[in-house]
This record gives sequence, structure tokens and C-alpha cells, in this order.
Amino acid sequence: MLKECIEALEIDPEGTYVDVTFGGGGHSRKIVENLNSGRLLAFDQDEDARIEAEKIKDRSFTFCQANFMYMKRYLKLNGVTTVNGILADLGISSHQIDSPERGFSTRFDGPLDMRMDKSISLTAAEILNEYSEEQLHKIFGMYGELKNAKTASRLIAQRRVTMPLQRTEDLKATLRPIAPRGKENKYFAQVFQALRIEVNEEMKALEDFLHQCGEVIASGGRLVVMSYHSLEDRMVKNYINKGKVFGEVEKDFFGNEIKPFEAVNRKPIEASEEETEENSRARSAKLRVAKKL
Ligand SMILES: C[S@@+](CC[C@H](N)C(=O)[O-])C[C@H]1O[C@@H](n2cnc3c(N)ncnc32)[C@H](O)[C@@H]1O
Repeated sequence: MLKECIEALEIDPEGTYVDVTFGGGGHSRKIVENLNSGRLLAFDQDEDARIEAEKIKDRSFTFCQANFMYMKRYLKLNGVTTVNGILADLGISSHQIDSPERGFSTRFDGPLDMRMDKSISLTAAEILNEYSEEQLHKIFGMYGELKNAKTASRLIAQRRVTMPLQRTEDLKATLRPIAPRGKENKYFAQVFQALRIEVNEEMKALEDFLHQCGEVIASGGRLVVMSYHSLEDRMVKNYINKGKVFGEVEKDFFGNEIKPFEAVNRKPIEASEEETEENSRARSAKLRVAKKL
């Protein structure tokens, strides 16, 4: 949904924009094309994204290799206190998923790594081999929405007694007996998603980031967020509608709602049939756009 994201940002060629998920740089390159004397600051915590970003030799472009939960701090370091729009295209990039050695893909065998930022120490292997059965149950249920999360965590706990899980194939072999027949790939994708969210603390990063958006976007500016998971989408929706990731909107003494944004579209924008045919990941994408009050 490149076109939809760029349109939603309503780019002012003289404005300052942030792309907090640079990835392969598709969105960033388009934003830069639309700038005149404006600026784009892009973030990604992945080293490979930094290498890709070095190819953009444009005066208006600055890259920060950092977790977007520290966005405000890095903007300040770059002399920026307010911006006209922020884009977030959450989750993992096609480069990450297509690199077997990163362990994100259910298609190839690889180490159970799944770190976007290779400098953090927690890996998927550590979670699978060290977390309690109850913790695994919670992660698979909450982040993977597995119907048999309890059985999955029990199987893993039994398997690791004799042999620790090291490779993505070890994990798939352990869970294959309980994967729904004919839907194994979808099941493994949910398991991998759950682990990836835990390894990278994705929910915490999103919560911290959203709150900073309210502080740095100028009045009339845009927040554009694309998510691929119902928990993420719920957090984004709640933040836009209620000013908080969890809970109800607060009101002032006169009963006016205290919230920084208003939704531009009541319902999220979804990918066209044509796009979902080309890119299966787009099927679960939900794009929410908000305007700063
Ligand atoms: C879906 S991809 C973005 C693709 C990008 N829009 C493009 O056009 O190529 C998401 C990217 O965000 C990065 N990312 C995810 N969570 C992050 C976080 N908390 N902080 C910084 N980068 C993050 C990932 O490393 C990944 O490269």
C-alpha cells in the first residue's frame, strides 16, 4: 500500500517527515522524491537496513539506526522537535524474511534467532529453551493467537528436556503433530510471529512510539500506521480514538475529550485484491491514518 501511505501523509515539500520503519527503503525513497527543501528522518533497528539506507545520497535524508521507541530522543539529537508526518509500516521486511540465517522464515531452515537488532541478547532459541511452559503458553496465545497454545507449549517443554531447540526445523518438527492438517504453513507462521514479537518486544516498542507521536507531530500533521496483527491494530486504533493505547479517553473539567488525534478514516484501509494476489502479506495489512488536532 505504498501509494495509499504516501497519499495519506499529504506531503508538504518543505515539511519534515519521519519513516520509523525504513526496511528496504521503498516508502522512504518515495517520500524523498516528494520533498523540496523538506527533510526525511528514517529509523530502523536492523543493521542491514542501515546498509541499504547508505545508498540514498540525498541532502534531505537522515538515517538513524535505532529502535523507534527512542524516536523523540533521536529527533532531538538531530535538531528536530516537531514534524509534519510520521509513517510506520510495522513488522518485518521482505529482506529479513528472505534471509534464512535470520530465522524469521518458516520456509527455510535457519537458527532460531529472530532479532531485528542483532545487538540485543534475547533470541527465539533462548525463549523456547528457557521460558517456563506457562510463559510460552501466554506468548503463543496472545501474540500468535494459537488455538492449541497450551499443547504447543507442553510439547516444546517435553522436547527440550532431551534436546534443546536450535533450528527453525527443530521447532517445526516438534509442533508438526499438532499443526492443523493442510494448514501447517499458516500455523507455523502464527508460531513464528509470536516468538518474533516477544524477541523484539514489539508491543512495548509500539506503545512507547505511539505516545511520542502525540508529542512531536505538529497540529494538522499526519500519523500513518500500517499493521499486520490484530493486537497491533487494536493498539493503534485505541490510541487514535482514545489518546491511549489501553483504556478509555480522558475528559477535562468541561467534558471535552483529551486526545491528540482524530481518525481520518473510521475504518482501516485494506489492500486491493490485485495487491493481495501479488503479495500475500498484504492480505492482513490494515492502514490507519490520523490527523493531529
Ligand atoms: C515492514 S518493514 C518496512 C518496509 C519499508 N516500509 C519498505 O518500504 O521497504 C519493517 C521494518 O521495520 C523495522 N522495525 C520493526 N520494528 C522496529 C522498531 N521497534 N524500531 C526500529 N525498527 C523497527 C524492521 O527491522 C523492518 O526493517
